[in-house]
Amino acid sequence: MVRCWYMEESSFDQRLEHHFDPCQYLSLLELFDCTGVECFKVDHESYETDETLKNLRTERGYTFEDEIHFHSGSPNYEEKLQNFYTEHLHTHEEIRLIVAGSGYFDVRDKDDRWIRLKVTAGDLIIIPSGIYHRFTLDVNNYIKAKRYFIGIPIWLPYNRPAEDMFCRKEYLERLEQGFKVERLNA
Ligand code: LAC
Ligand code: NI
Repeated sequence: MVRCWYMEESSFDQRLEHHFDPCQYLSLLELFDCTGVECFKVDHESYETDETLKNLRTERGYTFEDEIHFHSGSPNYEEKLQNFYTEHLHTHEEIRLIVAGSGYFDVRDKDDRWIRLKVTAGDLIIIPSGIYHRFTLDVNNYIKAKRYFIGIPIWLPYNRPAEDMFCRKEYLERLEQGFKVERLNA
């Protein structure tokens, strides 16, 4: 299950947990309320037959899928690690199912504070379009994840600031109005 906490901002090794002292954990409901990020649990060992994933794919119409591996032996490891960790947004949702390994997604809450999400095998997360976020490996330096998309995938990141983008304005409106809680159990 995804665990998340408010993240202490230090430039020291991005692959560490970066807790405040004391730790400031959030529940997944609190996370959803202040960011719109949704988390689901999927059986990663037989995800093709997992009901939660099946329902999500049908209800939301994910037609594209692929798998990505990222680890300390990947080509251009250092450069990619920095690129993924550069604060950005996308014009579409970012959907990831972790099938092996682990990592951290950081997302900004409504007050622009970083929340760190620890993802491990079986975690499926949906990061809304227009939210500022970033990703890093943790100290285990290994992740394998499935990516899903509705239609032809667009992975393009837009680095902050991107305040004039339509998806950003739309996200801020949704944040203002409050995310619909029923989506959490879709
Ligand atoms: C992505 C992660 C790095 O855009 O947020 O793939
Ligand atoms: Ni991204």
